[in-house]
Amino acid sequence: MAKPRVLFVCHTGAISGAELVLVDLVQPWAGESALLFENGPLAPALAAKGLKVTVSRWGQGLTQVRRDSSILKVIPLVGRLFGIVLETIAAARRHDVVYANSQKAFVLSALAVSVARRPLIWHLHDIISSVHFGAMQRRVQVTLANLFASRVVVPSKACADAFIAEGGKQPLVVVVPNGLDIAPEALSPAQIRQQLQLPEGPLVGVFSRLAAWKGQHVVLQALARTPGVSCIIAGDAMFGEQAYAAKLNQMVIDLDLGDRVHFLGRRSDVPRLMRAVDAVVHPSIDPEPFGRTLVEAMLAGVPVIATDAGAASDILQAGRAGTLVPPGDADALAAAIINIMSKPPELAAQLNYAEARAKSHYGAAQMLRAIAGVIDDASGARA
Ligand code: UDP
Ligand code: GLC
Repeated sequence: MAKPRVLFVCHTGAISGAELVLVDLVQPWAGESALLFENGPLAPALAAKGLKVTVSRWGQGLTQVRRDSSILKVIPLVGRLFGIVLETIAAARRHDVVYANSQKAFVLSALAVSVARRPLIWHLHDIISSVHFGAMQRRVQVTLANLFASRVVVPSKACADAFIAEGGKQPLVVVVPNGLDIAPEALSPAQIRQQLQLPEGPLVGVFSRLAAWKGQHVVLQALARTPGVSCIIAGDAMFGEQAYAAKLNQMVIDLDLGDRVHFLGRRSDVPRLMRAVDAVVHPSIDPEPFGRTLVEAMLAGVPVIATDAGAASDILQAGRAGTLVPPGDADALAAAIINIMSKPPELAAQLNYAEARAKSHYGAAQMLRAIAGVIDDASGARA
């Protein structure tokens, strides 16, 4: 049977981890289409992979609607949402399968396929729980998934468990871990530090968008307990988290960390920066659905200290491939940083193990194969 024609649907034009996964996974689908509700850097990134990208006439500003918005706040948007659904229906009719890469994309695509009658795959990059979603949103998402999704792809068991706990049908769920393919860094850590003018001495790094649940504030609290350790923080506030970014800057002043903490803004050279630090800290205070940065650090051959919630324990194999600390615990994080800086003898073996595990479990080729299988199954191409 011919390769199915796929319409990839995404609500945002910004690029966070979920969209980086989309950019990776569309690789074998050059010539297919993407519908974005909002314009942004994702549009050219997908076009560069050979996709025909359309941006909705109605979606600009949609990401400003918070995920926990009350239904009353959402009502004035109904006309625009209806416009997007009509666009999605028209686009879906020109394709065999619709592939939604986010909640908002999924909900509107579900309404669209109820009319257009196309198989719908939901790539769910989140842990559906009360931490990030209101009760109504959770009910709507799961009900629509049970009614209209052919498959729900999740990157981890943590995401699968949460979806099922909310009432999602277990047979819909396929766990496809995110896969990364990163070229090894040629420069040594010392060369990178010199080239990028990074601080000398003990150095940790945090590489996530600035958001309260990503927990950068806990790292600042830990740094107040680890004199002599500097920190680079890469990432910016992407989804209305500017107040949190301002709070972090204020904390740096209040804790007198100005000469040790360096905010680098959003960077496009994360693998190189990771290679230059003594440890990557992944401090999320809420369960992490996956955490690409964990795998990136493992591939960079750098020790990882991550909070023990969500997928981190699976990825770091309960502490064999990195250090796990309780979420939100600045004392435990400080102790873990001090331990890594002391270069404990078991570290070298842990780093080798972590790198091998990242390559064997979280490779891009595996992800592409698995997703192609899901799309084929949904489209009936294997029938
Ligand atoms: N990232 C980046 N530049 C930055 C900070 C982060 O390119 O300044 C990348 C990081 O390397 C990772 C992604 O953003 O690939 C974040 O993905 P992750 O799954 O860790 O978290 P998310 O932000 O999607 O929740
Ligand atoms: C989301 C999650 C992150 C995950 C990414 C890709 O942004 O927050 O944990 O790695 O999607 O699946």
